[in-house]
Amino acid sequence: MNTGTINISNVLQRSRISLNGAWNIIVDPYEMGYIGILGDRNDRGFFRDHRPRHPGDRVEYDFDSSPTLTVPGDWNTQDERLHFYEGTVWYRRTVEVSAVQVATGRIFLHIGAANHTSRVFLNGEELSTHAGGFSPYAVELTGRLTAGAHSLVIQVDNRREPHRIPAMRSDWWNFGGLTRAVDLVFVPDVFMQHAWLTMAPDGRVIGGVTLRGGDSDVRLRIPSLNVDTTVSHTFELDIAPERWNPGAPVLHEVHWSCERDHVTDDVGFRTVETDGTDIVVNGTRTFLHGISIHSETPSGGRRANTVEHASTLLGWAQELGANFVRLAHYQHDEHMVREADRRGILAWCELPVYWGIAFDQPNVLGNAQEQLEELIVRDRSRAAVIFWSVANETLPSPERTAFLTKLADTARELDPTRLISAAMLTLPTQELDHLIDDPLGAAVDVIAINQYLGWYYGDRETIPEATWRSIFGKPIVFTEMGGGAKAGYHGDEGEIWTEEYQAALYRAQIEMVKANRTGNGGEVAGLSPWILKDFRAPVRVLPGIQDGYNRKGLISEEGERKLAFGVLQSYYEEVAN
Ligand code: GCU
Repeated sequence: MNTGTINISNVLQRSRISLNGAWNIIVDPYEMGYIGILGDRNDRGFFRDHRPRHPGDRVEYDFDSSPTLTVPGDWNTQDERLHFYEGTVWYRRTVEVSAVQVATGRIFLHIGAANHTSRVFLNGEELSTHAGGFSPYAVELTGRLTAGAHSLVIQVDNRREPHRIPAMRSDWWNFGGLTRAVDLVFVPDVFMQHAWLTMAPDGRVIGGVTLRGGDSDVRLRIPSLNVDTTVSHTFELDIAPERWNPGAPVLHEVHWSCERDHVTDDVGFRTVETDGTDIVVNGTRTFLHGISIHSETPSGGRRANTVEHASTLLGWAQELGANFVRLAHYQHDEHMVREADRRGILAWCELPVYWGIAFDQPNVLGNAQEQLEELIVRDRSRAAVIFWSVANETLPSPERTAFLTKLADTARELDPTRLISAAMLTLPTQELDHLIDDPLGAAVDVIAINQYLGWYYGDRETIPEATWRSIFGKPIVFTEMGGGAKAGYHGDEGEIWTEEYQAALYRAQIEMVKANRTGNGGEVAGLSPWILKDFRAPVRVLPGIQDGYNRKGLISEEGERKLAFGVLQSYYEEVAN
């Protein structure tokens, strides 16, 4: 479980000093910088950031003369020697603050993401531990960060372990490091830890504020809606705002203020719910014609972490004609969900409860709930977000279903306004008629299914005859489907890895979607094929074709569009009109 950490919302809207840039690092595969040879904590460890005090002072490390890595960024793509590295890297930088900044009130260190586990040390003192490689957290430095210069050390460890989330295997690169922005955040003594607004399925506007450092009324102003009121804890607003719609986003400027604290946000209002097997947005049945996306840069195969990355990736999704993106398989950078808000693209947000997880261990559920809370409290004001997903492709078992049902309940407690789901696995089959009866279906609002007919199993020619139903009477969404191709490799559509093969697979899959979709007597309410762009994956080793990349992208890792991009784009143009 995390210690010494706190969640703070609206960090991008707050007064900050960026700590991005070059940090000195020490690669520490044997953890000697923290654990001594007797197995106890090494009190002269790297976190002390010692400098030799006299000629005889034996100090066997020196950050000042050590190499550097750029923050934010994964270490794997910054140094060839770290390409496959899984272990500990120590990051150190000197932080300098003025007397004025210290007098502001309270100071927090905010880490956008550190994969996988991390510890924060200030001037040699251990302040926090955090587990979860894709969710943000903060550590309070108030009172410790006095005017002057200080040693800030962050230990990051991206080892895969059976009791972690994710655990031992994933089909994406295990990018380690401080992979998203690191900031100092300055807030008054009494400040709004959380301030959020969203719309419930019945159209009520609900919100909440959480204060730290004292209790006080909070003023909420939404000029475009003539709202100027005082709120506290959780509340409702009796308003009927112009709605945010997919393809037609409307964002309202929102001002939160409390004593000396002030936060401005841009918030959209929409309803989302299910009606039988339909997904309904603002009272209109909405077919989700989407695409899955990993958090990887548009080119170069690195962890994505800027607004430019978000803009390019979501721009490609819009060029495809998508009204929906599945942000797989973990929480993406905050820029992605804010850009989806601005562009009017519906979004699925997901926890990395992926494949084999230790579902029978209580501390694993505890960490899953911590990561789920960090996911929801950061993004619950984003109208674009309509799904919280609690898992991907987990094998049915009583422990797994109990674990994920608990997570689904936790998500509903934190946010009763959005759809809860989890991508389920289609076991290899030659069957054409599919009846989804995974017991997890009882705990979710939408039945999400990954299926690879014509790629991992089944014959491409028979795909259009396949049928899909579930025993739950809920909407079905194909959260994955598709197959691979090497960009620029052309040949007969019977030849695997050619663009023609992938395009033919997409044509067959689209025929099946048409035959099974809602509005046409079916239960399929949407799709987010796998995947927008080729991405790094350790298990994809076919020389000359994969070379460390999963090739199911519609676009290559260098931005080349494959024939299947045009096939899906044509279908989405047809659906949208
Ligand atoms: C799985 C999994 C993905 C993976 C994909 C594939 O369904 O969810 O993470 O990349 O299939 O095999 O390419």
